[in-house]
Amino acid sequence: MDKIRLGVIGTGSVVREIYQHLYYHSEYSHLLSIEAAADPYEAGLHEFCDKHNIPRDRRFTSYEKMIESVKLDAVQVNTPDSLHEKPTIFALTRGLDAMVPKPLADTITAGHHMIQAMKASGRLIGVDFHKRDDPRIKECQARYQSGAYGRFQLAVWYMVDKLMVADPNHQPRFFASPDFAQKNSPISFLTVHMADAFMRIIGLKPVKVRARGWKQKLSSLKPISVNGYDLCDTEVVFENGGVAHIITGWHLPNTAHATTVQSSRIICTDGCVDLGLDTPGYHEIIPDGIFERNPLFRNFEADGTVTGYGMSRPGRIYQKFLKHRNGDLAARELATLNDLFELGFWTTVVCEAAEQSLHRGKPGDQGVTEGVEISVADLLKERLGAEASVYLS
Ligand SMILES: NC(=O)c1ccc[n+]([C@@H]2O[C@H](COP(=O)([O-])OP(=O)(O)OC[C@H]3O[C@@H](n4cnc5c(N)ncnc54)[C@H](O)[C@@H]3O)[C@@H](O)[C@H]2O)c1
Repeated sequence: MDKIRLGVIGTGSVVREIYQHLYYHSEYSHLLSIEAAADPYEAGLHEFCDKHNIPRDRRFTSYEKMIESVKLDAVQVNTPDSLHEKPTIFALTRGLDAMVPKPLADTITAGHHMIQAMKASGRLIGVDFHKRDDPRIKECQARYQSGAYGRFQLAVWYMVDKLMVADPNHQPRFFASPDFAQKNSPISFLTVHMADAFMRIIGLKPVKVRARGWKQKLSSLKPISVNGYDLCDTEVVFENGGVAHIITGWHLPNTAHATTVQSSRIICTDGCVDLGLDTPGYHEIIPDGIFERNPLFRNFEADGTVTGYGMSRPGRIYQKFLKHRNGDLAARELATLNDLFELGFWTTVVCEAAEQSLHRGKPGDQGVTEGVEISVADLLKERLGAEASVYLS
């Protein structure tokens, strides 16, 4: 077999921005044959399919129907975070591999069910956290893992978006629904990326999580105000006693030099690392202002190919799917794919624990919620009962 026959489930914004390039204009496109697509939102479904010549009889409003009527090897589940679980399990139980954009799932329970279904089916789940293929994160991971910096002690990660991302009054609106920043938080949208990148580097399990959240700016927006967090600080204590603060928000003035202002400092016993993630080296001064461009993520090449780690991260997962189907995946590669960090399980754990910390915390009269401390072991037992033991050894 030289191609994966892929069914696309969900044809929303992440497909428009990232995956249509992967499917049709990347160095990985020759590995994929897009056989069909499914989305109950028909206008979006037809827009995607018309653009890429997917025939009418290969367009579905139900992913179950698509999987049952088209010959496929894998699906890509591009549905909102809370809807990754069902299509993924449906596909796995019918012998297909499943790729999901980050995160694995929005809850520990859903992630656990997906991993159980993966193990029972003998198929694969791939999770596309694009930062994992950022050359700076990869280099830092390799050097940390080789012992170059000693033992991790303290880290701070920042990821703060321009206000236009969360502001429903901004035109054009960043998210279609005006209450996106109310229903979601900087934790589900941003902390998820930084928690994953950081755990990728250190390979340590989280043991305690506490978050603090500020609601001071979004509530002042006019005419539509948002009852949501501007900024969150998630403190994560790791199994080696190291502590990370992951600070995320979406209320920086729109004059910021990048849509997402992001960086990290990691202090270890024998070294300190500064990751200037929003300064990839391409700095432009134009009449509209001063901006940082990030061609490392997505680069539109002159020949029409799209490159960058936004393509290579999911593309390499499909390479592994194909090798597995052809019986060529080495045992070590398979073990890596099935690892809980690789599957993004611990990232889901950190994010759910942070959300729970705020949910169980006390909102103060200054608009600041002090979260409670969440023990990861207790939360796992609360959510999974006896099955939590799989993750606690
Ligand atoms: N790699 C990244 O950094 C990145 C960036 C953006 C989004 N994402 C992730 O991608 C996923 C999708 O996000 P989005 O921004 O495209 O959301 P979106 O709301 O724009 O699109 C989701 C699509 O899923 C469809 N859908 C819902 N239920 C469905 C079902 N049962 N069957 C088929 N389709 C269904 C919706 O109709 C919609 O078209 C999320 O998990 C998100 O976190 C990842």
